[in-house]
Amino acid sequence: MNRIVHLRNLYDRYGPIGLVQEAARRPKRLVEVVRGNTNHFYTLENTVYWEDIVTIVPQVVDCSQDEAVAVWEEIRGDTRVEQELTAGLRRTGERPDGLHSNWREFLYVLVRLTEPTCVVETGIYDGLSATYILAALRKNGCGELISIDINNQERLPSDIENVDAGWLVPPYLQGAWTRKFGDAKELLPTVLETETPDVFIHDSLHTAEHMRFEFETATEFMEPGGFLVTDNCRFNNVFRAYVESSFASVAFWPNTEYALSPSKERVDDRFGIGVLQ
Ligand SMILES: C[S@@+](CC[C@H](N)C(=O)[O-])C[C@H]1O[C@@H](n2cnc3c(N)ncnc32)[C@H](O)[C@@H]1O
Repeated sequence: MNRIVHLRNLYDRYGPIGLVQEAARRPKRLVEVVRGNTNHFYTLENTVYWEDIVTIVPQVVDCSQDEAVAVWEEIRGDTRVEQELTAGLRRTGERPDGLHSNWREFLYVLVRLTEPTCVVETGIYDGLSATYILAALRKNGCGELISIDINNQERLPSDIENVDAGWLVPPYLQGAWTRKFGDAKELLPTVLETETPDVFIHDSLHTAEHMRFEFETATEFMEPGGFLVTDNCRFNNVFRAYVESSFASVAFWPNTEYALSPSKERVDDRFGIGVLQ
């Protein structure tokens, strides 16, 4: 099913001649599609709509619907970010060949509206979340992003040489970025000795034990009003416990059609944003 949808998307995008040219240019990608290996999590991510922005963002940020929509339209219309990410994704046959609207737009909107001095994220992977955050910081004209990843080479494209987590982040956005490679269990406490995140984003190892560790460690150093953001809320009850005990307000969004938990179960997942009391 996924294979047919994906082939149809490619046909719609390229047309018959373009599809043949694309197959000749990137045969590995064609093999992936024909085998049906298209369940990459980017393919499963839901589109963000105007309705999502006006219902979700004002739940956690003190802003009007118009303000939220205005900054969201910035990133939807940012052709430089889109072109650079698309060009990057096409360097490999192991990723979808284009990007559509996705949950990281919420990160852009959040960072634009709240103008944080410091954002810390765990889980870089190709660098999509980092790109959206850095694009927002650049537009703000201030603030830094510190990103932590264990830099697992097995999850990165095998057909690009010397690849590290964050390889997709466009160079023109990297000025406000510090990348740290290692286990968040060791690096996060070290980073927080000198940094106070206004926004903390968890998207690394999604076991209950590790999520609890990251949430507890980050919130210990954060101020009231800070944002605790996480992907994969439904993998366990850890974020839910924070809703009851630590958040002044909270918002959720179903960012993927489904996600696979660390134990490979299909989960009807949520992306969550909580404002610390
Ligand atoms: C879901 S991906 C991150 C996706 C990324 N935020 C994005 O926007 O596409 C998860 C990442 O977490 C990293 N990771 C897994 N366990 C980790 C750990 N214990 N410490 C730091 N990073 C870890 C993996 O290497 C992987 O790159």
